[in-house]
Amino acid sequence: MAKAQYLSKNTVSTLESKLKELKALRPIPATVFSKIREQFQIEMTYNSNAIEGNSLTLKETFWVVQEGLTIKEKPLKDHLEAKNHDEALDFMYELTDSKKQNTISEHLIRQLHQLVVQDSQRDIAGKYRDGDVYISGAEHRPSSHMEVPIKMHELIKWLSKNKTKHHIVELAALLHHKMVNIHPFWDGNGRISRLVMNILILNAGYPLAIILKNDRKRYYRVLSLADKGEYKPICEFVAQAVMRSLNIYLKVLKPTKAKNKQFISLKELSKGSSYSATYLRKLATQGKIEAIKEKRNWLSTREALKNYMDSLR
Ligand SMILES: Nc1ncnc2c1ncn2[C@@H]1O[C@H](COP(=O)(O)OP(=O)(O)OP(=O)(O)O)[C@@H](O)[C@H]1O
Ligand SMILES: [Mg+2]
Repeated sequence: MAKAQYLSKNTVSTLESKLKELKALRPIPATVFSKIREQFQIEMTYNSNAIEGNSLTLKETFWVVQEGLTIKEKPLKDHLEAKNHDEALDFMYELTDSKKQNTISEHLIRQLHQLVVQDSQRDIAGKYRDGDVYISGAEHRPSSHMEVPIKMHELIKWLSKNKTKHHIVELAALLHHKMVNIHPFWDGNGRISRLVMNILILNAGYPLAIILKNDRKRYYRVLSLADKGEYKPICEFVAQAVMRSLNIYLKVLKPTKAKNKQFISLKELSKGSSYSATYLRKLATQGKIEAIKEKRNWLSTREALKNYMDSLR
């Protein structure tokens, strides 16, 4: 088991056993996998932007990102931020999926920043700040802008030195705190730091860890404790976010024992029903029965067929 200095034994073993359970489910049907991932992507964009004051709701974020719609009463900036954050996540997934070139570097961090503020604040995109900042709602004062380059350089050195000294979720939490502590950019520090920590998390095979807007108060509290050298709370906080995602993934993806909920081929489903496989396929492609496509074959469940037949009555 990976070492942990701040996470409890119990937390580490739960994380590891749930990850093992998730890995044992693979390969996951491509459609199911991309659907849940899309939902997480929207949820992450919504929450991370909402924490920093973006006014879009979860639903509106979905409309903006997925459907390209505009919400009349909401500022343009909020739309651009949602779109850009979603693009940054696409980029991150490409990176972590390909397993190429995904070590965290200053270059990568600046690239992510560039994506996140590309439309809303082009003038500062990808650039470290050249002035001093304070964090509203926090006692901590980030250091002078003159120290940012050296602090960021040290951060990357710290990361490569300490890679094996921490459990990966713990490492991600510490990295997150260190980055918001430096506050290297004029704006977008929270969002970027939440993305960067997720590179480590995704690379280890975990799903995205989403810090919920509803947990903002606790999030600020655990960060301020970390400012004082108390690292357990931020580590447990991030671990809880990872655990929440693992639980959702497992709930959605775990093959159910209930026979009528198991995905089976349409040929099998047609047996004992009054429909032919060809007709079921037509229903599936028209979206009339709940079905998923695995490579070229459609799969559905007895329950889905029953629901369809009930709807006809
Ligand atoms: N006590 C703290 N110590 C360090 N960082 C903190 C502390 N409290 C909050 N933060 C971080 O600072 C972020 C908010 O600071 P600020 O509003 O300056 O960020 P920002 O640069 O505008 O980033 P974004 O636009 O993504 O929110 C929070 O999202 C959190 O990550
Ligand atoms: Mg901001």
